[in-house]
Amino acid sequence: MTISTASAAAGATESLDAEALAARIATGLPKDFVWGAATSAYQIEGATDEDGRGQCIWDTFARTRGKTAGGESGDRAVDHYHRYREDVALMADLGLSAYRFSIAWPRIVPTGSGAVNPAGLAFYDRLVDELLAAGIDPWVTLYHWDLPQPLQDIGGWANREIAYRFAEYTDHVATALGDRVKHWSTLNEPWCSAFEGYLTGRHAPGVQSAHAAVRSVHHLLVAHALGVEALRARGVSDVGITLNLIPAESPEESPEAADAVRLVDGQTIRLWLDPLLRGEYPADVVADFAKAGAELPIQDGDLARIAAPLDWIGVNYYSPHIVVPGEDPDPKPMPFVAADTVTRVVTSENVTALGWPIRPRSFAALLRRLGAEYPGTTWYMHENGAAYLDQPEPDGSVLDPERVSYVAQHLDVVREVVQEGVDVRGYFVWSLLDNYEWAEGYKMRFGIVYVDFETLARTPKSTAHWYSRLIREHRAAHE
Ligand code: FCB
Repeated sequence: MTISTASAAAGATESLDAEALAARIATGLPKDFVWGAATSAYQIEGATDEDGRGQCIWDTFARTRGKTAGGESGDRAVDHYHRYREDVALMADLGLSAYRFSIAWPRIVPTGSGAVNPAGLAFYDRLVDELLAAGIDPWVTLYHWDLPQPLQDIGGWANREIAYRFAEYTDHVATALGDRVKHWSTLNEPWCSAFEGYLTGRHAPGVQSAHAAVRSVHHLLVAHALGVEALRARGVSDVGITLNLIPAESPEESPEAADAVRLVDGQTIRLWLDPLLRGEYPADVVADFAKAGAELPIQDGDLARIAAPLDWIGVNYYSPHIVVPGEDPDPKPMPFVAADTVTRVVTSENVTALGWPIRPRSFAALLRRLGAEYPGTTWYMHENGAAYLDQPEPDGSVLDPERVSYVAQHLDVVREVVQEGVDVRGYFVWSLLDNYEWAEGYKMRFGIVYVDFETLARTPKSTAHWYSRLIREHRAAHE
C-alpha cells in the first residue's frame, strides 16, 4: 500500500510504501518516544449503573430526546468495565508502552461532592495493576467530560464551586493511585467542555449561552490549577493538561479573512495556552467576548495559579478549521463567541467519514508554531486518528487502509518536527477501540481495534497491525 506524505520539504509530496514509511518513522524518533493509545471512560466503560456509580451529564443528555444520534448512550458502550483484562491483553499484544484513559468522576464521587465510593476507586485500582503487570504505563486523565449531574444542577462549569469539587475529587484519585500512576492530565479538551457544552449545546449539558460558556472557560482553568496543586501536594511529578489545538486557516487572503482566522485561532488555541504558559488571557479574545456581553470571571490570584509550571501539554489534533469571512448560512451554531461574521468551509475533498479534512501539512505547521511560540514546552500527542465506517471482510478481518494512511502521514509529521527540534515525546492514537463518539453515537468508528457492537468481540484492524509493527521496529532500531 502506497501513502503520499506531506512532510517532505516545503510543498513537495512523495509516495512511500506503508512499511517503508513505518521504517522511516521508527528510525527517526528517539529511543524513549512513548507509543500509546487513548480512550475515555464514558466512551468505553458501560456499566453506568454498577457499583455505586452516580449519574453524569452525558447520561442525562443522551436520555434527552434528539440530543444524540439515534438516542444512543454510553450505557453499555463496549463494556470495558467488565472486559478490561481482555483489553489490556490486547494492548500488550500490540506492544503499546502507554495507555491514556480517563477516570469517571461519577464513579469516585457519585454525588459530585462528599462521600467517596470505594467500589469506584477499586475498578481503577484493578485496571492500573493490570496495566503495570503487562508493562504498560498508565496515563490518567481526570476529567473527560463526565461531570456528575448534581454539579450540573448547581450550574455546572458556569459555577466556580465546581472547580473546588474537582480539586477534592483529584485528591481522592491521587491518594488512591498516586503510588503507581506517574502521568496525570487534569482536563481533556476544556474548549469542548466550554464551547460545545455551554455555547452550541451540541454536547452535554446542552446549554446555549455565551455568558455561561465564557464563565466555564475560566472555571475549567481554575479547576485545572487547583487540580495541579492537589496532585503536587500528593507528590505527583508528571502533570499536564490535554488541549485540542485546532489551527484555523483560510483559503482567502484579505484583512477580513485574517480576522476570521484570528478569532477562531484565539478561542481554540491562544485562549488556553496563553494563560497556562504565559499567565495572561489574549486581549483580542477578551475583546471578542466583551462584544457578546460576556466576561471571564477572574478573581485575584487566579492567573498566577493557572500559570503554575506544568511538565507537558497534551495535544489533540485531527483537522484544521477552514474559515472564510461572512455570515454562516449553516443553521448549526458556530462554536465561537461573537463569530457572526465567520463561516466554516465545508469540503468533501480528502475528508474522513465525519467530513474532517485530512491536512497533515496543517498539523506540521501547528507543531512548528507551538515549538516557536511556546518555547521550552514539552508536548505529547494525546489524540490523533480518523473516523471511518469500517466493516469486516467475509473472513472476519477488518481492513482500514485509509486510517493506516492517516496515522502514518501524521506520525511522519511528528518525526519530521522532532528532528527539527520540537519537543514532542509521545503519540497516543485515538482510539484503542471503536466506541461511543458522543453526539454521533456508534456509527463513527475511530478504533484501531474493531468492536462488533452486538457481540462486543474485538478485532485488530490493519492500522493496529501496522502500528504494532512500527512500535516493534522502533524498539529494535534502538536496541
Ligand atoms: C476528541 C475527544 C475524544 C474523541 C475524539 C474523536 O474531541 O477528546 O473523546 O471523541 O475527539
